[in-house]
Amino acid sequence: MADYRVGVLGATGTVGQKFIHLLRNHPWFRVTALGASHRSAGKKYRDATNWIESTEMPDDISEMTVTTCEPDQMDVDFVFSGLDAGIAGDIEKSFAETGIPVITNARVYRQHETVPLMVPEINPDHLELVRSQTFDSNGKGFIVTNPNCVCIPLVMALNPIATAFGVESVILTSMQAVSGAGYPGVPSLDILGNIVPYIGGEEEKIAREPMKLMGKLENNRITPASFPIQATATRVPVVDGHLLSVAVKLKNNPGDIEKVKEAVRNWKSPVIDLNLPSAPEKPVRLYDDPRYPQPRHQSLAENGLQVGMGRLRASSVLDVAFTALGHNTIRGAAGCAILNAELLHAKGYLG
Ligand SMILES: NC(=O)c1ccc[n+]([C@@H]2O[C@H](COP(=O)([O-])OP(=O)(O)OC[C@H]3O[C@@H](n4cnc5c(N)ncnc54)[C@H](OP(=O)(O)O)[C@@H]3O)[C@@H](O)[C@H]2O)c1
Repeated sequence: MADYRVGVLGATGTVGQKFIHLLRNHPWFRVTALGASHRSAGKKYRDATNWIESTEMPDDISEMTVTTCEPDQMDVDFVFSGLDAGIAGDIEKSFAETGIPVITNARVYRQHETVPLMVPEINPDHLELVRSQTFDSNGKGFIVTNPNCVCIPLVMALNPIATAFGVESVILTSMQAVSGAGYPGVPSLDILGNIVPYIGGEEEKIAREPMKLMGKLENNRITPASFPIQATATRVPVVDGHLLSVAVKLKNNPGDIEKVKEAVRNWKSPVIDLNLPSAPEKPVRLYDDPRYPQPRHQSLAENGLQVGMGRLRASSVLDVAFTALGHNTIRGAAGCAILNAELLHAKGYLG
């Protein structure tokens, strides 16, 4: 049985807390170090953290002392990072340079040409890129990233359709939960009883990251996919779960919406046979009932790792339209990073 000592960088934040929650009984990964800012370092985790998870803080973790995010402060085999993007770059690099693999949610390295931007069910072959990284001369330290929390449900829902019929263009509106903005996040006076019709920097990420994710690995580099995505990113008064309304122009429209539904239902995850401990049995579920999926009711399906699709129908303007839902801090962040680490272990990259 694998047994890794794991550090969590940004352990006190929204995503960091989700790591603590999801790793509490993990069969392979044991949390042995917690890193955050100078404001938290030196304090017990329970004193440094404004715990917003709905489950109790694990006793052993609550007693641990938070350190600064420096490699010599942490006796670990690898780290998960839920660091603020503004400071993640140098910190994550320092771990990789010291020979400690970093599996991160922050956006800094997502477009780096040798850093895989990973969702295990979409592009597991892209992991091979880590072999070309040169952060650490003996190749032990590397960086693996997961995409933005909208791109994950978007690409998971789109992939079965793209594989069967090809995609020409996408128009979408995201309705994003407040936990996506971290803690304390969006001021209550801005969001209660309201919708904020713009999230800075988000639409560019939604247009760009799916191209790398759905790109092809050729000669140790990714040749990106190429189709336009027009996104409108909005913040809505929902706690967890990003809901997307998506319309797609296909390359080869089968002209029969039942064929599109069949492609989604018959799609099989390329990593299902690896039996990764956190992998959902059904990564994408298509609902027939037009009321679903809803953030409050379905975002925790399969421990928050299933993407829900609904209202799959012929579009009167493009070819097909649907809704997609993903839990932003689980499927869209910590849960996806844990799946990435499980895949790294299963494929022998973690040493
Ligand atoms: N929330 C989501 O749904 C989501 C989804 C996907 C990706 N992400 C990405 O995940 C990352 C974390 O997001 P979040 O929502 O968890 O943010 P957050 O709640 O604001 O947490 C930020 C974390 O970074 C730490 N930090 C801040 N400045 C630091 C410094 N100078 N040195 C070391 N640690 C520092 C904070 O520690 P202190 O408590 O000590 O300040 C805290 O632990 C971001 O890069 C975000 O873009 C978030």
